[in-house]
Amino acid sequence: MSITHQHDVLIIGSGAAGLATALHLAPDARVAVLSKQDLHASSTDWAQGGIAAVTHPADSEYEHIQDSLAAGAGLCHEPAVVHTIYHAREAIAQLQSWGVNFDREDNDFHLTQEGGHSFRRVLHVADATGHAVATNLIREARQQPNIELYTDHVAIDLITSAKIGRGNNRCLGAYVYNSGTGHVDVFAARCVIIATGGASKVYLYTSNPDGSTGDGIAMAWRAGCRVANMEFNQFHPTCLFHPHAKSFLISEAVRGEGGVLVLPSGERFMQRFDTRGELAPRDIVARAIDHEMKRTGSDCVYLDISHKPRALITRHFPTIYAKCAEHGIDITREPIPVVPAAHYTCGGVLVDLNGATDIPGLYAIGEASCTGLHGANRLASNSILECLVFARSAADHIRSALHEPYAAPEIPRWDESRVTDSDEDVVISHNWHELRQFMWDYVGIVRTNKRLQRALHRIELLKREVHEYYSNYRVGNDLIELRNLIHVAELIVRSAMMRTESRGLHYTLDYPTLLPEAKDTILSPGTWDPLDVMQPQLAQIR
Ligand code: FAD
Ligand code: SIN
Repeated sequence: MSITHQHDVLIIGSGAAGLATALHLAPDARVAVLSKQDLHASSTDWAQGGIAAVTHPADSEYEHIQDSLAAGAGLCHEPAVVHTIYHAREAIAQLQSWGVNFDREDNDFHLTQEGGHSFRRVLHVADATGHAVATNLIREARQQPNIELYTDHVAIDLITSAKIGRGNNRCLGAYVYNSGTGHVDVFAARCVIIATGGASKVYLYTSNPDGSTGDGIAMAWRAGCRVANMEFNQFHPTCLFHPHAKSFLISEAVRGEGGVLVLPSGERFMQRFDTRGELAPRDIVARAIDHEMKRTGSDCVYLDISHKPRALITRHFPTIYAKCAEHGIDITREPIPVVPAAHYTCGGVLVDLNGATDIPGLYAIGEASCTGLHGANRLASNSILECLVFARSAADHIRSALHEPYAAPEIPRWDESRVTDSDEDVVISHNWHELRQFMWDYVGIVRTNKRLQRALHRIELLKREVHEYYSNYRVGNDLIELRNLIHVAELIVRSAMMRTESRGLHYTLDYPTLLPEAKDTILSPGTWDPLDVMQPQLAQIR
């Protein structure tokens, strides 16, 4: 039996963005937080390097802003950069008040270095910063009587008044699949926050957890929001290359502490590509590795920190040391085999400085959003910072609106009367694999017009097949995610096709140079095939 829940605020996602917003709102509002799996299943929990913030007296916000703008390759929105960086100290203090103990040295924060930063300014908790952040936010949230945490609840689609034919358009809640009961419930709320993280799972090789399927971006798009800069997919240069290691990152901080990249022959190569060597911004390092792997025909390159003292390596990188040891690699004595992998979605749902989207009552925060902070390439360790700063801004904005009168409309229940159980699950598993493989092959680190055309053609076929499947069979996690991945893949490819230059993370052999004017790629719903927008839900919602 499906249920209708009513809250002041519905937050879809339990990463840094979702939980920090919930904690800010909890004194004033009844909040529901959803997670697709358990509360720790997020990129936040996997974050290693740390959080960038100016804390050293010799550093300055000005320098942090300049580094972010330089990494963003002319496409950052300066107000978003300034807003984020000037609120960084406050965000760090807030995390400390929630129990996060950053590493310290000589009575001060221990600061690490990452690519593109002109100063050591990354606060961290060894090499497991994200786990420390997630653990403390979850503990705090569990102590708040106003926050209800729903695990194994997968949001399928947003409910808007336009969709159900009730008055001026605003977001009214979401249809949510409860994977415990197998039913689809209504979560009604006067404000909804998308905090669903990124979409790197659209690529075959990724540093991200399985849930990074771009659900929030796809839901917002289907609900009528604009989506921006989806062609800027960040590939992290160094993920562990081992047949039994799935999605394990080797933090950029390893290079920050002196790790060097070498070819199988032992030759260093980064200086040939950039004077900053291993600490050039990620797009440059990932492209250099890709180039060298193709040139030499090798399966990977190597990251070597074994020349540093063993005590330094095991103190700063205990997680990486242990994980590599599990696979028979002693990083204090030998180099680590690494390859680039999809890591971060710079684009997302277009929002303002309050995290507000195009639809009243709907917000997007964290990796699912496009605030303008990252431009064409995110500076390392600016992401969790963005989650925290925008969580605060959105909470303040929502709180001020909660005093206004609100009459909750009646929302129709999800109707399954015309669908049946699938007897062809192979359609889902086959299409999942096919999509991720061709996105890797055709829409990866180096693109061409022809490859993008091929990818779009296949996406269109998959979209029709999955749409038909979705209209006839009962939903489940894999189907919900596949449908979202296909929509996000299309947004990525269409955005990439619109950019006739190479900028930041988008590099194409057909347009290798930079255009004089930096422009966002903004996609508006309804521009193409109506299958994208409303149709799929109408098959099941009546
Ligand atoms: P996430 O933390 O990914 O959380 C998403 C949440 O949404 C999850 O709870 C998920 O279950 C939920 N969700 C998704 N879809 C649905 C749905 N349909 N229904 C219900 N719930 C849903 N950034 C840094 O700044 N510093 C670092 O050191 C760093 N290291 C990283 C290392 C790794 C290995 C990875 C993968 C990323 C790293 N990043 C780092 C990036 C950073 O971790 C993420 O960008 C950031 O944590 C995203 O937070 P978020 O809250 O937006 O999303
Ligand atoms: C890392 O530790 O290399 C990841 C940092 C980030 O993605 O910001």
